Amino acid sequence: MTTRKPLASISATARFLPDNVLTNADLERMVDTSDAWIRERTGILERRIAPPEMGVVEMGKRAAQRALKKAGLTPDDVDVLIVTTATPDRLLPATACEIQAAIGASRGCYAYDLQAACTGFLYALSAAEGHIAAGQAETVLLVATEKMSVITNWEDRSSCILFGDGAGAVVVQPSRNGEGMLSSHHSSNGDLAPLLIRRAGGGALPLTPERLHNQEHMMEMSGPEIFKAAVKSMAGAGRKVMKDAGVTADDIDILVPHQANIRIIESTARYARIPMDRVFVNLQHYGNISSATIPVGLDEAIEGGRIGPGSVVLMTAFGAGLTWGATLVRW
Ligand code: COA
Repeated sequence: MTTRKPLASISATARFLPDNVLTNADLERMVDTSDAWIRERTGILERRIAPPEMGVVEMGKRAAQRALKKAGLTPDDVDVLIVTTATPDRLLPATACEIQAAIGASRGCYAYDLQAACTGFLYALSAAEGHIAAGQAETVLLVATEKMSVITNWEDRSSCILFGDGAGAVVVQPSRNGEGMLSSHHSSNGDLAPLLIRRAGGGALPLTPERLHNQEHMMEMSGPEIFKAAVKSMAGAGRKVMKDAGVTADDIDILVPHQANIRIIESTARYARIPMDRVFVNLQHYGNISSATIPVGLDEAIEGGRIGPGSVVLMTAFGAGLTWGATLVRW
């Protein structure tokens, strides 16, 4: 491998998933669908749904506290707190500021939200790397927390089967022994924004009783178009970061992709020439938790012994925007 010296690395990971499980059998009672169709077309068997009183601040707080504990840090150690979410509890202030208060990190830390939908975690990893490279931070806490169930149109069978709730968190610190981020490549194409959109509820189309009734504040999705764009973009970004880092598919110990649809994951892995036994998949249990899928996946892969010191880990994601990207890390 001919890689540049990493500047920043992930020193701890954690996750929080709400207890309540929504199965495909439950969905059969809600919309015109079947367990067989959902399994075959998406690979998803069940997803977690947070209770009404639990929002992204609470889920993010729990993941953040677990990550700090694992890193042996206190909230006072956090220099920058970045939160990625497409489903904030409130539109103002930033969710990051609410989580900052919830974990008691308000002394000497600054906090902000970064919105890149499902790609948010990878964009935020690069932002964290930048803070460290610029000497602005020694410890960045990155929290990806999503309550997709509140923006899901539960009458739309083509989208409501896909999403779930949960949070992941990582601590990013300066690289000490050659471990860390080897290369990243991110892109977006705003021309494709209509493919995955919430039309109402912002300044352009404020909520009215009629728009609420028509569910215009909920997610609208053009599934097949997103499917095609997802495979092309994730595989392309994955190949680019491998090439930039002088790494081949054979060097990748594990691909941790955004978990949206098993067929998207399989096609991406095929285009990137990574066999499925080196791909991490947990979407059967959680569905698509937007920006939280990758940090939750990293945490489970570490716990399961699939990522350890020295592992070469490729992450790829895509999401509304459209946004997409890939990051290569030596653990
Ligand atoms: N149960 C049963 N049938 C369903 C269904 C469901 N839940 N959802 C859609 N169908 C039907 C469609 O109505 C269509 O019927 P028709 O042929 O009579 O019109 C048929 O199944 C095929 O629909 P199509 O949309 O072509 O299916 P698909 O194979 O593309 O799968 C998705 C649909 C949404 C699962 C798939 O396109 C997908 O996962 N796209 C990516 C979405 C995504 O990842 N979004 C998040 C981005 S981060």
